[in-house]
Amino acid sequence: MTDAIPTPSKKANGVQPWLGRLAGKFLVFEGPDGSGKSTQLKRLVEAAAAAGVKVTQVREPGGTPVGEQIRSVLLDPSSTMTLRAEMLLYMASRAQLVETIINPALARGELVIADRFLTSTFAYQGAGGGLSDKDIRDVGRVATFDIRPDLVLIYYVDVLTATMRTRGIASTGGKKGSRPTPAALQGPSLFDDRIEQRDHDFRTRVHESYLAQAKADPAHHVLVDASGNAEQVWELTAKVMQERFGG
Ligand code: TMP
Repeated sequence: MTDAIPTPSKKANGVQPWLGRLAGKFLVFEGPDGSGKSTQLKRLVEAAAAAGVKVTQVREPGGTPVGEQIRSVLLDPSSTMTLRAEMLLYMASRAQLVETIINPALARGELVIADRFLTSTFAYQGAGGGLSDKDIRDVGRVATFDIRPDLVLIYYVDVLTATMRTRGIASTGGKKGSRPTPAALQGPSLFDDRIEQRDHDFRTRVHESYLAQAKADPAHHVLVDASGNAEQVWELTAKVMQERFGG
């Protein structure tokens, strides 16, 4: 996907005092596949860096050499593994990331921005796959030293829009009549990775879990409507950040 995000303007950075308050914070960008979260994350990283905040950006699974190897195994459509093995691999990648990258960066007073964290495991291996929240919480505590993000931003779009985006089908502005039917989008596509190949019901449970997690702990989660274009979603992101960190 091409990245059409312009560099944040000087004006935008100069007048946003919340950017300067992000030092030492741990933010997580979450959402179902196709939510556009990574585009927004990149934009916040650029804005924070331009405001003079030292930023450590990581992604999950991955973000360390062994984590990236684990990522290849997890996303390879030819890998077969049990749900528990899958959950433990996500956690292994997370353990390496927290101990070697995230905790040291927070100790240095840097802003840490992660593309996915534990919320994803509750959504995908929990609600999607069927593992209990308790099992995920228990293993998560071991993997993460129980560190909690200051804020989890959940970029939310409906299942149909998300699926169209992951398949590279424009969800707005397409030719009349070119929009595929929901039924046509329910099965897997040849280009999906191992997790994206899961069926429509799995994806629906993942989406519902994101909504439920946001509702259950509003102090640490915020839902961002990700149905608009990147610019509109960035405006909502800035608004949320102003509300949470504006002082
Ligand atoms: P990404 O495409 O956002 O980089 O994420 C990789 C895939 O891994 C995505 O389909 C979500 C999935 N995932 C899980 O199933 N469980 C997890 O704990 C994490 C972090 C990601």
